[in-house]
Order: sequence, then structure tokens, then C-alpha cells
Amino acid sequence: MNSKCEIATHLPVMLSEVLEAFDDSPEGWFIDGTFGLGGHSRGLLERYPDRKVFGIDLDANSTGLSRKVFQKFTDRVLLVNGNYADMKTLTKEANISSVGGILLDLGLSSIQLETEGRGFSFRTDEILDMRYNQSQGITAFDVINTYEEKELAAIFFRFGEEKAARKIAKEICIQRPIMTTGKLAKIVEGKVWRSGKSRIHPATKIFQALRIAVNQEFENINDGLSAGLDLLTNKGKFVVLTYHSLEDRIVKQFFKKESINCICSVNVPVCSCEHKSRLRIVNKKVRTPSGGEIEINPRSRSAKLRIVEKIV
Ligand SMILES: C[S@@+](CC[C@H](N)C(=O)[O-])C[C@H]1O[C@@H](n2cnc3c(N)ncnc32)[C@H](O)[C@@H]1O
Repeated sequence: MNSKCEIATHLPVMLSEVLEAFDDSPEGWFIDGTFGLGGHSRGLLERYPDRKVFGIDLDANSTGLSRKVFQKFTDRVLLVNGNYADMKTLTKEANISSVGGILLDLGLSSIQLETEGRGFSFRTDEILDMRYNQSQGITAFDVINTYEEKELAAIFFRFGEEKAARKIAKEICIQRPIMTTGKLAKIVEGKVWRSGKSRIHPATKIFQALRIAVNQEFENINDGLSAGLDLLTNKGKFVVLTYHSLEDRIVKQFFKKESINCICSVNVPVCSCEHKSRLRIVNKKVRTPSGGEIEINPRSRSAKLRIVEKIV
């Protein structure tokens, strides 16, 4: 498939809900902190013809593909390779001062999962990698082959909620070196029991955990939420799509904390924290994709959409 086809067949998750969420956002740039193949950004550019998008992605392959395809929007899109956790520095370097909306569509894209050589998938057999930014940082291979058994078990348990974390970590240490996704998946299959009815592959949780550890995803989410909230102008909208309960919990807790005036412990009789709410939660009940969308795009099934508005 060539780049234009990949981008044309890419289906952004909950697109109409995401676009609507920005409808009454104030003027200023949109930041798409997880630009990917730009599916959501394209929608933003078309729906809001007077606005501009600052796109950030760690993955140079994705931004490279997108740069070619987004040429027709060249005066309205600024794309950079970087980490959304650094969005304050990145916007400063780009001389962007007014930000009316921010989107984070977390995790990995279908093209990253499916492209050979990225080492994200257990459906093919390839060298373990899993880095969004392939020019730096530790790979999944490094983690699997050099971390101590205890550290591996902690990663699998904490980032994958895998009950068999210890058993799997032990087996990995016995069978090292483990070069490929296929070999790792086989080891996990041998240690994890799943009901015959389960639609989830036994290695799913371990691969999720590894990907989170390799890319320091949870640190980035916390830093990105914090930086984004600082950057947004009054009434600016922050819109986040998550795909599993662990990342959704981080987003939910961050937004909840920033929406209340006091974060003192319940045992403290008089507030001493001086915490002030900085946002209003727009959708108290998290939004999920329609049945129709899940049918067309099964990968959207676990998506959760959270929307907040900055209030200072
Ligand atoms: C689910 S995809 C986004 C898809 C995009 N909304 C679209 O419509 O094409 C997530 C993207 O976020 C990128 N990413 C993950 N963590 C990141 C981070 N900390 N900073 C910047 N980009 C990141 C990944 O490389 C991937 O391209």
C-alpha cells in the first residue's frame, strides 16, 4: 500500500464526537499531540477553516508520511517530531502563544501495529522493538533480555494487570535470549490460561505492558495533561481518547483533581491546600463509540472520550 492509500484508509476513532467537542472552543491553534496519520487533524482543518493545527508525533515515519499528504494544508499545519509531554517547549519554539484546543488520541496507531519492523505485534514474527521514536531509547528487546526477573514481573503486573506476571517473567529469564515478538508470544501462551470464549489473545496484556514501559507512556500522559492545561486559553477544550482502563484512570483522575477546589485529605478539618479548580468537566459520563462505528472499525471498541474546558 502506498502512503496516500494508508492515510486514505485510516479511520480516526470517534471522529464526529471529537470534532463536535471543539465546536465552541475559543480562537487559537489546535494542538494535535498525537498526530499519527492526521485523521483527526484533517477533520479539524475541514470543519474549522479559520483555524490552524500544530501537530506533534514521536514517530518520524508517521510525520514523514503525513507531511507529504498534508501539503495542501501547508499554511495551516505545522508538524513536528516530538513528545507531547514537551508541548510547552515545542509551542514556544514555534512561536505559538494562543491555544484554543488540544487533542490527545493515546497509544499506537494501526499503521504502527501493522508495519513490519516496528516490533509491536504478536501476529507476525519480528524483532522486538515497540519504540514510537525509533531513533532513541530502550527497545522491547532490551527490556525483555536485560531486566531482572522482578522488574519484568512488576512491569507486566503494573502496566498489563497480568495475573500470571511472575510465572511469565520467570519463563522469560529461563528462555533468554528472546529476539522476536513471535517467540515472546509463544512463551506467554504457554503460561497464561484463557477461557476458550475469550476473544483476547493471551499475549495482549504482556505486549501492552511492554509498550507502556518502553515508551514511558504513563509519565508522558501525566506530563502532557499538565502542560496542556497550562497552555490552553480560557474556555479552551482538552479532548482525550484512551484505549484501556489504566490510561483512562490517569486521565480521569487528573481531570477530576483539576476540577475541584480542595484536594486536602478527608481527615483535614479546614482546607490548607489552596488548590483551585482550573477546568470544568464537559462530559461527566465518559463517551464511547457507537455500535455502528465498532462494526466498521473494531479497533475503536475500547475507546473512551473525555472532554474538559479550561476555566481560568
Ligand atoms: C492512536 S495514534 C493517533 C492517530 C491519529 N489521531 C490519527 O487520526 O491519525 C497515536 C499516535 O501517538 C503517537 N504518540 C504516542 N505517544 C506519544 C508522545 N508521548 N508524544 C507524541 N506522540 C506520541 C504515536 O506515535 C501514534 O502515532
